[in-house]
Amino acid sequence: MLSARATLHLTVPVLGARARRASHRPYSPRRTAASFTAALALVAVLAIDHTAATVHAAQPLGSLGLNYGVPLTIAHRGDPAAAPENTMPAVEAALASGAEVLEIDLRMTADGHAVVFHDELLDRTTDGSGPLADRTLAELQVLDAGSWFSTRYEGTRIPTFDEVLPLLQNSDARGLIELKGMWTVDALQPVIAGIYRHGVQDRVVLASFELPTLFQLWKEAPSLPRAVIVRRLPDDPIIYAELVGASTIVTSLRSFTVDPEAAERLRAAGFTVVVYTLNRADLWQQALDLGVDGVVTDAPRRLAGVHAAARG
Ligand code: G3P
Ligand code: CA
Repeated sequence: MLSARATLHLTVPVLGARARRASHRPYSPRRTAASFTAALALVAVLAIDHTAATVHAAQPLGSLGLNYGVPLTIAHRGDPAAAPENTMPAVEAALASGAEVLEIDLRMTADGHAVVFHDELLDRTTDGSGPLADRTLAELQVLDAGSWFSTRYEGTRIPTFDEVLPLLQNSDARGLIELKGMWTVDALQPVIAGIYRHGVQDRVVLASFELPTLFQLWKEAPSLPRAVIVRRLPDDPIIYAELVGASTIVTSLRSFTVDPEAAERLRAAGFTVVVYTLNRADLWQQALDLGVDGVVTDAPRRLAGVHAAARG
């Protein structure tokens, strides 16, 4: 895989060629936004201390690629069919579901704790309201994050990342840990420290939609594998992923209906390819046919069963 220096070396001329081609095309807000993002990314790469960041994330999710011809099952927010998403019961259910990978979302509290939670606002999945980021951990821990799902889970709390880590540590599963929103180095440090303290550094990949967050991670923990999440693959997904030193690309199935060969090209270039979030048998079959490495699903028990049958 490429070092940050090699990435720069390759990227600058390619972007130059693309810019030349683009100058003959009519104005497109999407292309303009993509170019702006790529330019920002380049500036950020240049700003990184490359002596500390030359390790490209070469092990995709502790080898998410080792899928024996069938995609890995990735349990989305734990097992959200069995228990309220991103809670301890959902994590426990995911680890018992047969899924090889646990996906969870992390957000930062007002007093600097990483908690497992998806939405920006508390309203949908708790009895609280407003932005989670405005609350301290103590304020969050009195909220009920289970009743919205079922009275059976009344009183279930929002877990901290530190509470989930021992469960991952004591399982065979791998972790796809998504960082929601922008994270500073100071905010990332306890997350990184927790991963190493629990010895799961070879079994996790840290994922984000946000390029600046992935840059901070690259700089702070260059050996931890990174995944870039994009709703739609950009024109040059390989360049996009290399800009943040990502070894895994997480995207929608729709990205591949537009360009069915993109998955194979990405895998041939050494990337791990994951699609999200598929909950139906016909879509699982499409993912299998595409040859992707992993499928994120809200129905991990069912998909793990389908994949076990496909392995024979
Ligand atoms: O794994 C990617 C997927 O989890 C991103 O979507 O909104 O469910 O976090 P979201
Ligand atoms: Ca997620």
